[in-house]
This record gives sequence, C-alpha cells and structure tokens, in this order.
Amino acid sequence: MDSFYINGGQHLKGEVEIDPAKNSLLPILAGCILVNDEILLENVPKYSDVLFMCKIIEHLGGTTKFVNGNFTNQDLYIDCRDLIYSDVPNELACHVRSSIFTLGSILGRKKIAKVSYPGGCDIGLRPIDIHLNGLKQMGCKVVDKNGYIYADASKLKANDVMLSFPSVGATENMMMLGVFAEGESRIFNPAKEPEIVDLQNFLNSCGAKITGAGSNLIIIKGVKSLHGTKYKAISDRIEAGTFLIAGAMCGEELILKNVNKSHNQELLTKLSKTACNLKYFDDKIMISSSKRPQSFGEIETAVYPGFPTDLQAPMFALASISDGYSLIIENLFESRFKHIGELLKMGCDIRCKNGVCIVKGKEKIYGAEVFCPDLRGGACLVLAGLVAEGYTTINNVELIDRGYYHLEDKLALLGASIKRIKCEKKVDNCF
Ligand code: EPZ
Repeated sequence: MDSFYINGGQHLKGEVEIDPAKNSLLPILAGCILVNDEILLENVPKYSDVLFMCKIIEHLGGTTKFVNGNFTNQDLYIDCRDLIYSDVPNELACHVRSSIFTLGSILGRKKIAKVSYPGGCDIGLRPIDIHLNGLKQMGCKVVDKNGYIYADASKLKANDVMLSFPSVGATENMMMLGVFAEGESRIFNPAKEPEIVDLQNFLNSCGAKITGAGSNLIIIKGVKSLHGTKYKAISDRIEAGTFLIAGAMCGEELILKNVNKSHNQELLTKLSKTACNLKYFDDKIMISSSKRPQSFGEIETAVYPGFPTDLQAPMFALASISDGYSLIIENLFESRFKHIGELLKMGCDIRCKNGVCIVKGKEKIYGAEVFCPDLRGGACLVLAGLVAEGYTTINNVELIDRGYYHLEDKLALLGASIKRIKCEKKVDNCF
C-alpha cells in the first residue's frame, strides 16, 4: 500500500498537460475486442484501470503492448485478431467497473460470453440491471448466476433499446453490441457524456456506422466487420477539473494544457464564483487564486451536462477552506462520501444527512494521516493536503493510480511538496 506524503502550504505554478481520458480509454479498449485487426491508441497513460483492461484483452487471446515514446505516456498497440476465449473471470473483472463493458463487444464478436460481475470504486451498489435489460432488448439470452453473466447472442437482432436511466456503461455496452447487429438499432435515453461521443468516433474510425452520440438518440447501422485504426482519446475532463479545483485553492498562474473547456462548463461556472481568476486560450486554461476562495454556493451532481459526480469529492476540499458555507448534494451514487470521514481528521467542518452535505469553510485545516477510500475521494484528500498546515500522509494511494497517472510528479513539478512512499509488499487481489 503506497502512500503520499505532503507538506501543505505551497502554491501551484506553471504548466500541466492533461492526459487522455481514463473513461474514454476503458470503453475504447473494450471496443477493440470487436476489431479483427491491429489498433494503435496514441499517448496512453498507464492508468492502472487501463492495465487491467489490457490483462482482460490478453486473457481473451488478444495482444497488447506499449510502444514508441520514451516519456510517461506511450502508444498502446492492440491486436485482437486471434481472439479465442469469451470469458472474463472474477479475478480479472473484480478490479475494474469497465470489465462489464466487454459484454457487448465479446457478444458482438463471439456471440457468447461469460463475464463476472465487475469491480470498481466502492461508491455504491452499482448494479448492472440496465446493462442486462439492454442485452435482452437486443435479443440476447441472459442468465445471471453464481456471480457471472452467461449471455448468448446467437439470436442478436437490431432493435430499439430503452435505457431506464442514462447509464454511461450501459450506453457504451449497447453501442458495442449494436455494431454487428444486422439492421438499425436505436438507443433511447442514452448517456450524453463526452466519452460516449469519443467511443462513437473510435468505433466509426474502425468502420462502424454510429450517429447521435451526445444527443437523446443514438442510431447504429449494423456492419459485417471492423478494420484497424490509429486513435487518440479526448482529454480527461475529470483530471482537468481536479487541477482546476486545485488552482482555485492554491494556484498561482497555473496553466492547464490540452483541455476542452466545453467539457467542464458546470465546474467553470461554479469556480467563477470563488473569486479565482480564470483565463482561456485555445486548449489552455489559466487559473490563479490570489486570496482565500469564496464559497461556490452549492453543487448538485447530475448526468452530463450536469455537474459531474466524479468531481464531487474534490469540491469538498475547496469548500473546506472557502469563506462561507457550501452545499453539496450527490444524486448518482449512494455511498460516495467516504472521503468526508477522512476530511474530519483534518479539521474540516462538514455535516451530512441523506446525501446532502453542508460544509462550513475554515481559515485553516491541518495535516493528518488519512486513508484513500476510492479514486476521487483520494484526489480530494490530495487537494486538502496541499493546503493543510503541516504534513499529511495519504495511505492506499494505489486507488488514485486508477485514474491519475503520475499525479504526485505533476504536482511536484508545479511546486507542491509531495512524494510517494512505496510499499514493497504488493497485494493484487480485490478483497
Ligand atoms: C461511469 O461509471 C464512470 N466509469 C464513473 O467514473 C462515473 O462516475 C459514472 O459513469 C457516472 O458518470 C467509467 O466510465 C469507467 P453509470 P458507470 O452506469 O458506467 C446506476 C470514476 O471515478 N446504474 O452511469 O458505472 C448506478 O448505480 C468513475 O472515474 C444502475 O442502477 O456509471 C449509478 O447510480 C467512478 N444499473 C447510476 O446508474 C445499471 O445497470 C450511474 O451509473 C447501471 C448503472
């Protein structure tokens, strides 16, 4: 269990390059299973979730290899021409939520699948009923037994699929399942996140015929096969949001590069209330905070384009030092507040009831030894440690590595006093 050791009170100054999006790369990697050819994904950060998806592809009989480049990010070569198997065992699936995204692509390619229930951050029950209902609406036979999903797509048919909730993963699964379904499939009530559009663009670059991603209706015209491609995923709006929040807390002309401003409209609107200074140029955003931030007021998480649930935890760090009260409401995941218990150890003033939290900003919060509860909760604790008085130790930071690559190095290059304390004994199980 690695830890971060942070000495708070530094300002963040300089430029940081935002990486390609974890939540694009994961469904894109699942989509590679559909492709009977070679693929090159450019500039891929070695997020641990990406590495686990590579293990799943290799388990199925595919090949993955990081090539080119000699800096942190390399290109990722994927070859699924020799796909032999159609099962994803628990010991692989339990590490990542995105393992369930392989259902649609394995069924599309092999017509049968046996996939274990997924893992992922412990932020709620995270059922997969919407995924399974979607498969059934497309004519698949589905048996849910002993923690595995057994599915048969021999009678796959293009069809209308109505999602009871605009689930990101279920939308992605249905898009991939529809690629080879003869005729026209339509997905009603789909998720509209930018990563959905990115998956459409990736699959279409391989010869799929998908339109409407990002809108209320996605249409998929079935094709016979897909060819290889070279593709670069969009910028990670959650990493960008995390650095923007850090900038609002302790930025001094902090410049983010490779940012798509339109993907973070809700956050930027909230940050503009905190008295930080925001400037925009092309794919860059500069943020400075010369004095103690004002409260952003309130945020309520929602599906895109609403306020992203993945930035809810980092916003607690900003609220904890802001002047005034802030209201934070989480609507998507029923237990995505585990970071609050850790923030209380740092002297934060937070009260919560039924998913509604009130944060009273403090002039000072204090370093403490805390535990990373999940990916974005860990990011929240890092931001709090950057501004806390004294030293903060954050344990279990492997969870942060799931969705931020070299976070401590990026922050140190900007002036933060942060280092990783490596733990020799590595534990690779899920339980
Ligand atoms: C994706 O998870 C992201 N993960 C999550 O990011 C993100 O928080 C989430 O979308 C919402 O934006 C990846 O893309 C790998 P959902 P996903 O299905 O697809 C309920 C991060 O920190 N639901 O849109 O699992 C579910 O319980 C991670 O990067 C069902 O009830 O999210 C939740 O309440 C965390 N049944 C809501 O829908 C289902 O079958 C939204 O979940 C599926 C979902």
